Amino acid sequence: MWIMERLFQIAIDGPAAAGKSTVAKIVAEKLGFVYIDTGAMYRSLTYKALKTGTDLSSGKELKDLLDQTEIQLQHSDGGQRVIVDGEDVSEPIRYQDVTSHVSLVSSFPEVRSEMVRRQRKLARSSNVVMDGRDIGTRVLPQAQVKIFLRASVDERASRRFKEEKQKGMHPSLEALKEAIALRDKKDMERDASPLVKADDAIELDTTSLSIEEVVRAILQIVKERSPR
Ligand code: DC
Repeated sequence: MWIMERLFQIAIDGPAAAGKSTVAKIVAEKLGFVYIDTGAMYRSLTYKALKTGTDLSSGKELKDLLDQTEIQLQHSDGGQRVIVDGEDVSEPIRYQDVTSHVSLVSSFPEVRSEMVRRQRKLARSSNVVMDGRDIGTRVLPQAQVKIFLRASVDERASRRFKEEKQKGMHPSLEALKEAIALRDKKDMERDASPLVKADDAIELDTTSLSIEEVVRAILQIVKERSPR
């Protein structure tokens, strides 16, 4: 790793299923940086809210719940584990009921402010690759590298389809397309920190690129922006 005056931050934003977490994990591993999946934090709160019967239309109730919730992102050989109040929720936070409610939960400004505070704190102690929707615009506006990943809805749905089939699930391509398009719409149209490309982010359309090609492109950008 380089000797740096200030910690190095790589922000990766983009719509649902654009490959952010796959790419971010590999980039972090190659650079020896810590990977922070901010979507997992919003999913964790959504999971706990569903479990406790919290009113998902109340930003205040969700914020109160978040204040009593410890979310830990642990790094293990098999990837990242997500621990909520001591319980490993890495799998249930990917289930459909969480996925379909997370855009609502993440739309409340009071929830977002607290999440942003926690995310910035995580980025204070190590070099990070952080992925999400508002990392380059709000969480880490000073990040040395900002990437905005895009891919067509068809391509993203077909990637999810393959992933889910591999896991032994029985997905419907049409349903995945609809769900992705709906989540894009909600994430882009919310008032609080909507999904938008930062002016200084580099846009990569991954529709016809392999994971390796995207990783290579990001590492090249990091190299160009690194202190010599
Ligand atoms: O990256 P993901 O699909 O796991 O994120 C789940 C949801 O969380 C996403 O639909 C919107 C929200 N989110 C957000 O609002 N801001 C972030 N920084 C990360 C995720």
